[in-house]
Amino acid sequence: MNSEILSRPQVAPSILAADFARLGAQVAEVLDAGARVIHVDVMDGHFVPEITMGPIVVQALAEQVKAAGGLLDVHLMIERPERHVAEFITAGAHAVTFHTEATPHISYTANLIKEHGALVGVAINPATPVGALQEIGELIDIALCMTVNPGWGGQSFIASSPGKIRRLAQNVDERVAIQVDGGVDATTAPLCAQAGARLFVAGSAIFRSPDPGEAYTRIVDSLSGS
Ligand code: DX5
Ligand code: ZN
Repeated sequence: MNSEILSRPQVAPSILAADFARLGAQVAEVLDAGARVIHVDVMDGHFVPEITMGPIVVQALAEQVKAAGGLLDVHLMIERPERHVAEFITAGAHAVTFHTEATPHISYTANLIKEHGALVGVAINPATPVGALQEIGELIDIALCMTVNPGWGGQSFIASSPGKIRRLAQNVDERVAIQVDGGVDATTAPLCAQAGARLFVAGSAIFRSPDPGEAYTRIVDSLSGS
């Protein structure tokens, strides 16, 4: 697996904002532009109100993303994620991120992801303190700091997020990639980078643009020098 991809800054297009009638073509546009992390938002109608996609979408994209040397980053916004991680990894997820708020068994779930051979991501909602990740620092590869409330695309970036990212960066090892998700664009991504983020998830800013490849590149360019 291309886990070294996460040691470099990456802009990860979130397919939540893509045109699902032509999903493969939309993913090809961002892969061609250089994207190597494709973000898949899974919502269950319980942890968050919406229902989106499951393992069959991961499976449908796995070959295309792998052939481009990329990885599929699956963000589970579902209750009791431990019951589903295995099926997402079997379907082709390279990284699986779950929420601390969604299960009492955080360490168990992180270990389960690792045992199944995927990278371990743990997410915290805007109101969850960064200390929630402190005791499991050794187990995680990705620390996702939500920069909106999870559940919907197209929301505004929470302005206090860079301060929280800084506190998170002090709480986890340098090896851990800090990811931001929600309201990320060419204006907010550099603020997150300066605060210590390395992975930048962007949905609307990329797929709601007339040229997703160019929109991806614009965010990448916004990070140079930050
Ligand atoms: C929100 C999802 C995000 C979403 C971001 O709950 O986790 O990944 O796609 O969308 P934008 O970039 O539109 O805020
Ligand atoms: Zn997400």
